Amino acid sequence: MRTVTKDNITEVFTGYFGEDTDPRVREVLGALARHIHDFAREVNLTHEEWRKGLEFLEWAGRITTPERNEFVLLSDVLGLSSLVDMLHSVPEATSSSVLGPFHVSNPPPLPVGGDLKRDFEGEVLLVEGVIQDTGGTPIPGAQIDVWQTAPNGLYSSQDPDQDIYSFHALMTVGEDGRYAFTTVRPVSYTVPSNGPVGGILEAAGRHPWRPSHLHFIVSAEGFQSLVTEVFPDDDPYLDEDTVFGVRDDLVMTYVDQPAGSFPEGLALSGQVPGPYARVDFDLVLASA
Ligand code: BEZ
Ligand code: FE
Repeated sequence: MRTVTKDNITEVFTGYFGEDTDPRVREVLGALARHIHDFAREVNLTHEEWRKGLEFLEWAGRITTPERNEFVLLSDVLGLSSLVDMLHSVPEATSSSVLGPFHVSNPPPLPVGGDLKRDFEGEVLLVEGVIQDTGGTPIPGAQIDVWQTAPNGLYSSQDPDQDIYSFHALMTVGEDGRYAFTTVRPVSYTVPSNGPVGGILEAAGRHPWRPSHLHFIVSAEGFQSLVTEVFPDDDPYLDEDTVFGVRDDLVMTYVDQPAGSFPEGLALSGQVPGPYARVDFDLVLASA
């Protein structure tokens, strides 16, 4: 008989793997058990703390729906989502960043130069750039899926007053790889904090704010899809994003433009007599 002790339990665990266990499963699950066991020993985890942890997971499961996945949010605020992103980012390509839970499938098409703002009030922001490969060559036919909050800080799926596709669009670029659209300046907002993850943030003395951003999923045949975001360099939460999504190359200046300078050739041409802002953000994809 083999006695299980607090010191050999990890070894016993790995000894239970079947002979045919997939080597990657053995590696990942073995390391998970090792770290969990080390964690419990390191903090001398009590029964009460262990039970609280399990109740936390049960609560997260109870409130998780297709629109709100509390486990993804947990991964986000622990920095795990961002760490996985960074482990697999390609240095020559644009950095990836968190997807978040508010992307909507099958967004409506928007032509290059189209308008995402529709009837919403707010400062007009012209977003443009080139989708290119790591050598700087434009990628014709690339697609860019864009989404953001409305000026009230809510995504369409959080706000019964918004059409589900408001501030969501899919653009296909032409031969020059150039994308462009108008929108309103996104605002900083808080991640959902009325559930168990909010409890963790509160216990840790953390706020739930994210710096304002635009989300993108960029895809093209023969290239790795890129999930990313762009942040303005003057946002007060830039250095304290609660989901750790900010990377140097994703921070851009939203340049103020004078009244009367809005360019031709866009859906809003002739309709923006006052000042507006402009951000130029090229997106670099790595080969598949
Ligand atoms: C977001 O940016 O939409 C987001 C990301 C992570 C958690 C919650 C929201
Ligand atoms: Fe977001």
